[in-house]
Amino acid sequence: MRNTLIIMLVIFIAMQFFQVEHTNPKTDVALEIQAPQEVKTILKKSCFDCHSNEVKYPWYANIAPVSWMISRHVNNARSLVNFSTWESYTQEEKDKKLKEIFRAVYAAMPLPSYLSVHDEAQLSKEERTLVREWIGYSK
Ligand code: HEC
Repeated sequence: MRNTLIIMLVIFIAMQFFQVEHTNPKTDVALEIQAPQEVKTILKKSCFDCHSNEVKYPWYANIAPVSWMISRHVNNARSLVNFSTWESYTQEEKDKKLKEIFRAVYAAMPLPSYLSVHDEAQLSKEERTLVREWIGYSK
């Protein structure tokens, strides 16, 4: 038992030598998504921590293996939808992404693992509806 703990501790310490960089690339504010203020407030509250270049990294984002997970989530999320560079997408890309957001905002997003430590990002039924109506009306 004691040996197991020591081995785990050593592995944990060794993990700390593999640091990942947490980035927030500088972006022109003009490229940020243009949407009604109430929609933008929701996106900023619940989505920007992965789908933007304004990620607020918590202190534990520096501790492996959590740091690796956060970095992977943010890179993945940005590559699919980045609200900080939204206006650089073509109309076709926007339409496709809006369709995905319409679906994602209903249940899949924000990620459950994120919500477990970010209660404030939880979306109410009204907020989900607001985003969906905005997508419905913007096309
Ligand atoms: C904790 C990080 C995180 C947050 C917060 C988050 N996402 Fe995501 N999102 C991801 C990741 C990672 C993926 C890649 C697919 C996956 O792993 O499920 C993704 C994928 C997506 C996709 C692509 C389609 C899909 O369902 O895979 C859409 C659209 C999306 N997210 C929208 C949103 C919206 C809208 C919000 C806010 C309401 C949001 N996300 C909040 C991490 C996040």
